[in-house]
Amino acid sequence: MTKIVILTGAGVSAESGLGTFRDKDGLWTRYDLEEVATPEGFARNPALVHEFYNARRKNCVEATPNAAHHALARLERDFDGPVLIVTQNVDDLHERAGSSHVWHMHGQLTRALCAACGHRWDAPAVMAPADPCPACAAPATRPDIVWFGEYPYGMEAIWDELRAADLFVSIGTSGNVYPAAAFVQDAARAGAQTLELNLEPSIGAHDFEEVRTGPATEIVPAWVAQMLA
Ligand code: APR
Repeated sequence: MTKIVILTGAGVSAESGLGTFRDKDGLWTRYDLEEVATPEGFARNPALVHEFYNARRKNCVEATPNAAHHALARLERDFDGPVLIVTQNVDDLHERAGSSHVWHMHGQLTRALCAACGHRWDAPAVMAPADPCPACAAPATRPDIVWFGEYPYGMEAIWDELRAADLFVSIGTSGNVYPAAAFVQDAARAGAQTLELNLEPSIGAHDFEEVRTGPATEIVPAWVAQMLA
């Protein structure tokens, strides 16, 4: 039985209208990531950080899953073997397309985290610095997002899955951010086949056995159709 582990990045949600980070007009060309995506930036100006993520949460609510998300949900449903999506995306478009095995290594826009006690809960549409934690009442509410300098979620379990994978597929990620950028090497070392699906070859494309380029809404459904044939 073939076990598939899929890593997704911003490129899978680009055609749903959610901006990527490093492409032309990407979020990190318009915002200073040090200010909005680091614990230090949040300590300096929590209102600015909440404003940034409130806007992204609103974009996410207004967006709908695209053909790539739907194809991956179909793969999970119809493939004769386990399919796990490890996503760097903080949107919930995989789940809304019907995927149920989705691990959010960089957190989720739909969740809030108390910086004081670690409690997590469903995020309201708009969050503000003085919002009290429902568990400890500290005014320390932050988005449940893994910022630069923080440790991604579930890494030990992810590495276990990569070691057990027969096929590792990376979709819509530029390969700039570790540890996700090294998953291809981790999986290959353990014997998995490796495939990249991206608009253009990523900076780590040479690590993959095969690279297919094009918009996710075209190349992901085509690959899924091939897997299910
Ligand atoms: N179809 C497929 N791929 C696309 C599409 C598309 N329609 N549009 C863009 N891409 C590709 C780009 O070519 C690029 O390689 O998606 C990739 C997006 O790269 P980034 O913007 O760097 O996003 P990502 O790799 O997900 O970023 C990783 O960085 O800032 C952090 O935490 C944030 O999770 C994020 C992490």
